[in-house]
Amino acid sequence: MFISKEVETLYNQYTDNPFGNKKDRRIESWLEILSRLPSILNEEVELINGVNIDFDIKDNDEIERLLLQLIPWRKGPFRINDIFINSEWDSAKKWKRFQKLNLDLDGKSILDVGSGNGYYAFRMVGMGADKVLCLEPNLVHVSQFSTINHFVNSEKIRMIPERLEESGLANSKFDVIFSMGLLYHQRNPSEHLNNLKDLLADNGKLVLETIISPKECGIALEPSNGKYASMPNVHFVHTDNGCKSIFRNLSLQVHAESDLAVTNDNEQRSTKWMPFKSFESALNLQNKSITIEGYPAPKRKFYLLGKAS
Ligand SMILES: C[S@@+](CC[C@H](N)C(=O)[O-])C[C@H]1O[C@@H](n2cnc3c(N)ncnc32)[C@H](O)[C@@H]1O
Repeated sequence: MFISKEVETLYNQYTDNPFGNKKDRRIESWLEILSRLPSILNEEVELINGVNIDFDIKDNDEIERLLLQLIPWRKGPFRINDIFINSEWDSAKKWKRFQKLNLDLDGKSILDVGSGNGYYAFRMVGMGADKVLCLEPNLVHVSQFSTINHFVNSEKIRMIPERLEESGLANSKFDVIFSMGLLYHQRNPSEHLNNLKDLLADNGKLVLETIISPKECGIALEPSNGKYASMPNVHFVHTDNGCKSIFRNLSLQVHAESDLAVTNDNEQRSTKWMPFKSFESALNLQNKSITIEGYPAPKRKFYLLGKAS
């Protein structure tokens, strides 16, 4: 069984087609790309140090051409033979910060909410995760996940192209739940965390990663027009105190927390695989301690949370 009967039933709609019955004019071309990926011979996959895939190859250039049709690649990197998908985010950096929390993923059932293209899910499997369910409403990410998993061929990861609130998940319990880069996009952050808490096993761990504003902002910074560091739909950027006050109200206990990590253009930048605007356009170039809108520049933090006993 894949985690629970409920998860299996929800996923069944996507076994034949990763996009299910979603309506998007790009789906046809994505399915065409997926159908043209070559079959794999003598494959070796390495997920501990990154996402590295090697196999006997006939036409590397043709594979690279197909992969480039799936831009923008925001999360990665992925290496497929000598093709290096150098994504906008060097997501390995965030994964290193997560690993410093020393959370054991061995044998765990995991929910990754807002998983992007599954980069972190592959790394979770590299740390011994038993099963990972990804929820990701952005269909570009879903097309990239299906492509990479054509090469990795993992039965341990499944992706449902839905938002958490519309996923239909209600009764399943997960050992570990990840919410990374989502809190500041929520209109009701407390409800988001409470929904995650409901899906957490009693001794489970919630891994929350978010942007933190300085303590002078009180509970949270509320960007006007929802624009922060050129990102749309940013409703609240909580302070550390603001986050901890939500945790207390929801009876979530902090088991570990990371230092603040300043985002810079080593971690987020335009590349051949994401050739559009990136972090360079998020900050005030004369004063990189503030965003282009004049707010404090992003600093990110991990919290490892559990249900208070
Ligand atoms: C800023 S990205 C973070 C991606 C990844 N978790 C990371 O940390 O790099 C937020 C992702 O969450 C997805 N998302 C936004 N709202 C969501 C929701 N309500 N449920 C599930 N995913 C959501 C978006 O499509 C996007 O891919």
